[in-house]
Amino acid sequence: MFQNRRFLLFIFISLSLKFSTSTDTITLLQPLQDGDILVSNKENFALGFFSPRNSSNKYVGIWYNKVSEQTVVWVANRDRPITNSSGILSVDETGNMVLHDKDQKFVFWSTNVTNIGNYSVSVQLLDSGNLILFQDRNRNAYSWQSFDYPSNTLLPGMKFGLDKKTGLNRVITSWKSNGNPGVGEYAYKMEFVGSTQLYLYKGKTRVWRTGSWTGHGWSGVPEMTQNFIFNVTYVNNNDEVYVGYLIRNSSIFSRLVINESGIVERLTWHEADRRWIGFWSAPKDQCDGYNECGPFGFCDLYKPGTFECNCLPGYEPQSPQDWYLRDGTRGCKRKVGAEICLPGAGFVELARVKIPDTSTTRVNMSLGLEACKESCHKNCTCVGYAVADISKEIGGCITWYKDMIDTRTFSYGGQSLYIRVDAAELAKYSSKKPSNSRRKALLYVGMPLIAVGLVVCIFILFYIKKKKANRRSRDVGVSFINSLKSVEGSFLEKDMGENVDLHVFDMSTIVAATDNFSLSSKLGEGGFGSVYKGTLLNGQEVAVKRLSQSSGQGMHEFKNEVTLIAKLQHRNLVRLLGYCFHTEEKMLVYEYLPNKGLDCFIFDQEKGSLLDWKKRFQIIRGIVRGLLYLHQDSRLRIIHRDLKASNILLDADLNPKISDFGMAKIFGGDQAEATTLRVVGTYGYMSPEYAMEGLFSVKSDVYSFGILVLEIISGRKNNSYYMESSVNLIGHVWDLWKQDRALEVVDTTLLGDSFDAHEVLRCIHVGILCVQELASDRPTMTDVAFMLSNRDTNLPSPNQPAFIFRKLNYGTDSTTASISGGVGSVYDETITILHAR
Ligand SMILES: *[C@@H]1O[C@H](CO)[C@@H](O)[C@H](O)[C@H]1NC(C)=O
Ligand SMILES: *[C@@H]1O[C@H](CO)[C@@H](O)[C@H](O)[C@H]1NC(C)=O
Ligand SMILES: *[C@@H]1O[C@H](CO)[C@@H](O)[C@H](O)[C@H]1NC(C)=O
Ligand SMILES: *[C@@H]1O[C@H](CO)[C@@H](O)[C@H](O)[C@H]1NC(C)=O
Repeated sequence: MFQNRRFLLFIFISLSLKFSTSTDTITLLQPLQDGDILVSNKENFALGFFSPRNSSNKYVGIWYNKVSEQTVVWVANRDRPITNSSGILSVDETGNMVLHDKDQKFVFWSTNVTNIGNYSVSVQLLDSGNLILFQDRNRNAYSWQSFDYPSNTLLPGMKFGLDKKTGLNRVITSWKSNGNPGVGEYAYKMEFVGSTQLYLYKGKTRVWRTGSWTGHGWSGVPEMTQNFIFNVTYVNNNDEVYVGYLIRNSSIFSRLVINESGIVERLTWHEADRRWIGFWSAPKDQCDGYNECGPFGFCDLYKPGTFECNCLPGYEPQSPQDWYLRDGTRGCKRKVGAEICLPGAGFVELARVKIPDTSTTRVNMSLGLEACKESCHKNCTCVGYAVADISKEIGGCITWYKDMIDTRTFSYGGQSLYIRVDAAELAKYSSKKPSNSRRKALLYVGMPLIAVGLVVCIFILFYIKKKKANRRSRDVGVSFINSLKSVEGSFLEKDMGENVDLHVFDMSTIVAATDNFSLSSKLGEGGFGSVYKGTLLNGQEVAVKRLSQSSGQGMHEFKNEVTLIAKLQHRNLVRLLGYCFHTEEKMLVYEYLPNKGLDCFIFDQEKGSLLDWKKRFQIIRGIVRGLLYLHQDSRLRIIHRDLKASNILLDADLNPKISDFGMAKIFGGDQAEATTLRVVGTYGYMSPEYAMEGLFSVKSDVYSFGILVLEIISGRKNNSYYMESSVNLIGHVWDLWKQDRALEVVDTTLLGDSFDAHEVLRCIHVGILCVQELASDRPTMTDVAFMLSNRDTNLPSPNQPAFIFRKLNYGTDSTTASISGGVGSVYDETITILHAR
């Protein structure tokens, strides 16, 4: 009996000893020694001694406990490393947390708070990653917390900003290097002059500005706004000003870090891939550089071939010489003779911008847009205005009186800036932008005129081309390159230079490779011509796209395609190897992919069975990566505009590659949503706003992507699907979705081993979100990527999708007349619709 009790006692003691090394608290009697680890209650975070990579120095830090890659989010003794393993972290009688060596000779770090010394002080590591020094036994009051002294990481739940009562302004600073968590040269902090802004500093120099708070997010970070993953809040009251964000699902790990190279990155942990994946980062391109284009200049990356610096409306370069040499730093000045104080002066709107630095502005939160304009108008020294909080009806008013610096444009997001100009300048802009009624008038009056004009133009062009072609048929290759240079300027030159092997093929090489375009080497017929398989002399297989002369793909589109594809390199995009240009012939030479388009698989019963669900899901994710690259990650933002199953090619391992960028268009300058005269796309994949109004944006690609996803899952073409009650596939899916029967749409060949109902349903859900009627409801490809790789986050419920296609009536245009004729027959043809604008 006695023996037994001793034994039990022994077990109890050893258990509690063991337990003491993995509790979440440090007390007076329970210090933390090197080797011990503190783990938070739900085991999200751990605190202990660590050594960075390539270093033997010891630091006390907090890291993610469940993330397999060591990820330190906070460091105590950043600049005073411990060189041996004698470190101890404890609380002392003064009520401070202290890091010292065993002999208490050295203090490496301390919380340094002035406390009434007491013995009930304790330290606890919370599941948020916050380390708190509590003053009392009940843990009601604290005297210090690690969230107030961030290292290089902003965690969910942290307040990033100023505590007005204590004057504490939290600053995030980079590490010195990968192996040294010491305070580095980059600092990210909030400043409060004018209106609140965040700046990234390198030493004392501003390198990037987040812009001001717009109500949804920061004016300069269009990627990061309030959405269904992040709850971003900005608080400005009597006690504090801060921005904070929460992850709606607490099992997702996401952090914002300022890395050693001065990049602000938001990263999310993907357990499946076991790595941190970037969500957004900045500074990203040259337009992010602080004050890149000087006072009254603005930076615009979306007008290829031109200098990224531009002057705001009504301004001209301070020094045309510098401007010509592409140095924008001196900025712009008011045009000579401008009379902005006379009657007739007004404002020009610049949309989708990061508004200029607000540190010299006045802000009045009680004014709305009209009152804001009024107040700026009344004051001759006011050079422009913008709404402070675009999420509100009365959004407040920011007015500028001095230099407007660090303005840039985005292809989406941002907000509008209104710039004061004189009557003459105003007239220029109002004639560019017809009002709604004028637009309509144009539609009726202008259409026949435009049609006549086009015909004349085409004749003239044709005539000129023919003459030119006759004159210099020998050295066309060279003249083609020259003409590119003269049109696109050094932009192209530079990018062609970067692009190592864009090959110019001889006509004779191509003729030999394709056996003189023999029927047997023909792979297919695309929207703009035929595709042939060729074998070069060295045995390399290529695909040659021979653009048909009648296709309407002119020189312009051809150049577009060559330059675009040459620049874009991604494993989910078809690689362009070179081109050939010979008198009237234009050809593009691509890598050859042994498998044909995705359409040959998914719409075919027999071949469809080669693609099980796992494979199809991989294909969907590959397409997402490719599109994400086009929309966001490549230096140019590109809209594909003709995404469809037959434009997704599969390589030998059935990996998807997006092809056919002929119509891709670099986002035109001041337009994220552009309007185009020529609507080019494929029936059944075109978003309603694009087909009907010629409006395209990344969201029109998202729409086509949504259709594609639903086709991949169902194995059916959108328009070939006629149920009694539904207009097409989307209509059908929507009907089933509303009745919770969406899985019934799934291709029966998919119901094999790899079928994952949850995943399939999620993909259908994402597909429906992508085809919603309103472009603004549709997610971006970044959102889609996130939704697909985090299988357990909640998705928003979709609104009514657009399934309009049978009701379309394009009116008088002759190209479209043939479309309404036979839906099925032209389904896969790329079509062109002309719009007046
Ligand atoms: C550890 O280093 C400190 C100096 O940083 C020294 O005072 C102490 O004696 C060393 N302890 C051991 C065990 O080597
Ligand atoms: C967002 O977070 C704040 C707290 O920071 C909370 O008050 C608010 O309810 C949250 N909003 C949503 C929609 O979750
Ligand atoms: C804001 O504008 C209103 C209306 O013009 C005015 O009464 C108020 O004084 C202004 N507030 C500030 C802080 O300028
Ligand atoms: C949050 O994500 C986890 C796993 O990532 C999942 O188990 C859980 O259901 C999700 N919760 C919500 C509310 O989405």
